[in-house]
Amino acid sequence: MCGIVGYVGRQPAAPILIEGLTRLEYRGYDSAGLAVLGSSGATVVRRVGRVRELEAALPKRLAGTVGIGHTRWATHGPATEANAHPHSSEDGRISVVHNGIIDNAGALRARLGAEGVTFSSDTDTEVLAHLVARSGAGALEDRVVDALEQVVGTYAVAVLDADQPDRVVVARNGSPLIIGVGDREMFVASDVSALVRHTSSVVHLDDGELAVVTAKDYRTFTRDSHDTGRVPTEIEVSADDVEIGAHGHFMAKEIAEQPETVARMLRGRLDTRFDTARLDGLNLSPRELRAFRRVKILGCGSAYYVGELGALMIEELARIPAHAEAASEFRYRNPIIEPDTLYVAVSQSGETADTAFAVREIKRKGGQVVGLVNVVGSTIARECEGGIYLHAGPEIAVASTKALTHMGVGFALLALLLGRVRDLSVADGQRIIAGLERLPADIEAVLADEERIAGLATELSSADSLFFIGRVRGYPVAREGAQKFKEISYRHAEAYQTSELKHGPLALIEESRPTVAVIPDDELTDRNLAAAEQVLARGGRVVAISHPGVDLGPLDDRRVDVPRNEVELDPILLMIPMQLLAYHAAVALGLDIDKPRNLAKSVTVE
Ligand code: G6P
Repeated sequence: MCGIVGYVGRQPAAPILIEGLTRLEYRGYDSAGLAVLGSSGATVVRRVGRVRELEAALPKRLAGTVGIGHTRWATHGPATEANAHPHSSEDGRISVVHNGIIDNAGALRARLGAEGVTFSSDTDTEVLAHLVARSGAGALEDRVVDALEQVVGTYAVAVLDADQPDRVVVARNGSPLIIGVGDREMFVASDVSALVRHTSSVVHLDDGELAVVTAKDYRTFTRDSHDTGRVPTEIEVSADDVEIGAHGHFMAKEIAEQPETVARMLRGRLDTRFDTARLDGLNLSPRELRAFRRVKILGCGSAYYVGELGALMIEELARIPAHAEAASEFRYRNPIIEPDTLYVAVSQSGETADTAFAVREIKRKGGQVVGLVNVVGSTIARECEGGIYLHAGPEIAVASTKALTHMGVGFALLALLLGRVRDLSVADGQRIIAGLERLPADIEAVLADEERIAGLATELSSADSLFFIGRVRGYPVAREGAQKFKEISYRHAEAYQTSELKHGPLALIEESRPTVAVIPDDELTDRNLAAAEQVLARGGRVVAISHPGVDLGPLDDRRVDVPRNEVELDPILLMIPMQLLAYHAAVALGLDIDKPRNLAKSVTVE
């Protein structure tokens, strides 16, 4: 949700913090702030708006080499300067940045208020600054432990003490936090993208852990003072992965790199000897894979929609009942967890709170859960018993594109594996493998048609309201298409099963409300065409996402064709024009594409 950075070293901290915050801005961006320790204590600067506004507000001379920074996505209190982080103790000695939610902040505020503390913000975080300041302990790490003992909730925190200017103390419980290890300098961040320019050596903290970080060293420990001795691991992400390069937007960059990233994801995962997928990370033997009688997929937002696609692929290729559900709902309905069901949590960030809670609920009830996750070492990836890493590389634009394509590929691999331990034939295994191998080139071919898609997107962008329709495999594609469109163009977009159109929404069809219809070359083409013609007959406009050779009749002048792959894999390709339609509509409307209003990349709070 929000982003945290910290630095302890030999260089001036402020530029490093600003650079890190800029990279984290996709996580939350309604206000930002930093605190830097210097000879006269902490300098705290906060601003409403983007990191560039914070940068412009910094004093010329800010030489301190220890500091923390934060970019915020409001949960408690509006986006004002007073509510921006860091929050400070009354005497200014302690500065705190925090991600997450302190559930008992109300009670703590009341108690501290009764003890005479004056609050200067509406946030839950501010209680932490006062609790640390009022602790009777000496070392900052002990003060932080004291404070956290009184706190119920989720957090990643970084804390500075002007009287102990050699250190940053960090703690994690339910919100990610990592330490980057440099040469006589250390970094702290909520997300690797803030660190990759400086180091590839990182330490992941676990829930319930703290660390005291100095320029030369770090020490990790639990709240009851047991050293946990975490050692650094090397991360794969490079600085180029988080640079925008020649592209105007991260979203454009991430759409464009899909042929390459999908090829990378497939490397080593296609087993042409047995015509199956190699997914060693699942940690499941063929016997275990065979024993599952059902698959249940859980994710939120776009991940949930691709989960619906995954369920269809698994049913088609493995012939086991499979179903996707919004993790945000699942966790609240006392779900029945069955021993012979394979649960699959799907998440780009691996940090979505609703999905992580669903994982915990399944595990608590003894279920078996694996993850389809992009971010290596993330919460969901670590809490699942095994999984498939998506290897899409960092995704910075809030609206997900390449990670979703990779989720589709991940489900195809899982479906192939589950199918081949059951009744999927060698010939079908070969067919799916060949289809997967063609995907990068097929994506390339869709991207080559970008100009034409951009023209149609510009036309669609003038509508206030749109329908996206599709059926069976095309329906999740339509749902994701509508989601992407509304997220970044702020146009009302609603997805419908094409078959349901006549049962209600047809009443809304008119020229000003266009329809994007998914009409692949499959067993339902004629029915899909008939429905689209009903829309035309009522004065509606239709853009068709289809396959070459499909006779679209009157829809022919507004068609986008994607290459035919294998019928089970086609939806992965049908999603690509949806990305481009949303992107170019937002370009036409001149909107802030990478950071749409009110949204955040990963929702780490409920
Ligand atoms: C947020 C984002 C969505 C995203 C969802 C799941 O709601 O705005 O775009 O699909 O989280 O994110 P995840 O990281 O779990 O895939």
